[in-house]
Amino acid sequence: MSTARKETTGRTLLVALVLCIVCSVIVAGAAVSLKPVQTSNKQLDRKKNILSAAGMFAPGEHGAAEIEELFGRFTVRMVDLDSGEYLSEEQLARPELAPERYDQIKAAKDPKLSEALPGDADIAGIKRREKVAQVYLLEEEGRLQKIVLPIRGYGLWSTLYGFLVLEGDASTVVGLAYYDQKETPGLGGEVDNPKWKALWPGKQVFDAEGAVSIDIVKGSVNRDSPAAVHQVDGLSGATLTSNGVEHMLHFWLGERGFGPYLSRIRGGQA
Ligand SMILES: Cc1cc2nc3c(=O)[nH]c(=O)nc-3n(C[C@H](O)[C@H](O)[C@H](O)COP(=O)(O)O)c2cc1C
Repeated sequence: MSTARKETTGRTLLVALVLCIVCSVIVAGAAVSLKPVQTSNKQLDRKKNILSAAGMFAPGEHGAAEIEELFGRFTVRMVDLDSGEYLSEEQLARPELAPERYDQIKAAKDPKLSEALPGDADIAGIKRREKVAQVYLLEEEGRLQKIVLPIRGYGLWSTLYGFLVLEGDASTVVGLAYYDQKETPGLGGEVDNPKWKALWPGKQVFDAEGAVSIDIVKGSVNRDSPAAVHQVDGLSGATLTSNGVEHMLHFWLGERGFGPYLSRIRGGQA
């Protein structure tokens, strides 16, 4: 008489089930244990982009410690977008507004911390706007040198997330950099091209009356035109992404964005 166990459908299913459970525990364990590393890499990438837009970072030249050191020179401030004023100590004491934990993108989805934008005001295609924004300031010898503003808006295929950096005059561009976008590589994805980004420093985002005046033109800017200081060449073959960039800049520099805050800085009140 044979002692070998009989292969039954039940046993096959049991082996498959045990294998599934073991594999899912391994995958879930790896995902959980790698989460802090992913989060810290994401944070580091964000800081790298802020430094890059601020003209303080050349790719490949800095390690993590140096990025932290350079970024440490910036002060984080929380701005009430409607009034353009910094939050009071009392407001900062609210746990959901604590600067070290505040997540602006998450806040934009929270009805208590954001507001829906009416269609005609939503030129950046973001649907909701947070009430409080986080800005990064670089001060040297008591003078404001750089203002880093988080911006986002729809291009052709995706929402582009990035930073616009202005000089202490709150009008001259230091740089523009995106840390997350899914436009087509070689077309809209050229927003990341260093050659295109090099066209931005020195541009003026406001005109003499304080109106938002930055303009992305189709083709090339006429360098002899007096308007050239407000204009940047469009991305070739990617007019729709270029329009998205222009619209988001107009939104974030305008009345519903950082307009009130920047006008306070220009008026010496912030
Ligand atoms: C597969 C594919 C991907 C495209 N990706 C982009 C893009 O990321 N951004 C963009 O503005 N246009 C993109 N376009 C082109 C647009 O459809 C449109 O033709 C273009 O924005 C017009 O720009 P132009 O007037 O400078 O040629 C893409 C077209 C195709 C066929």
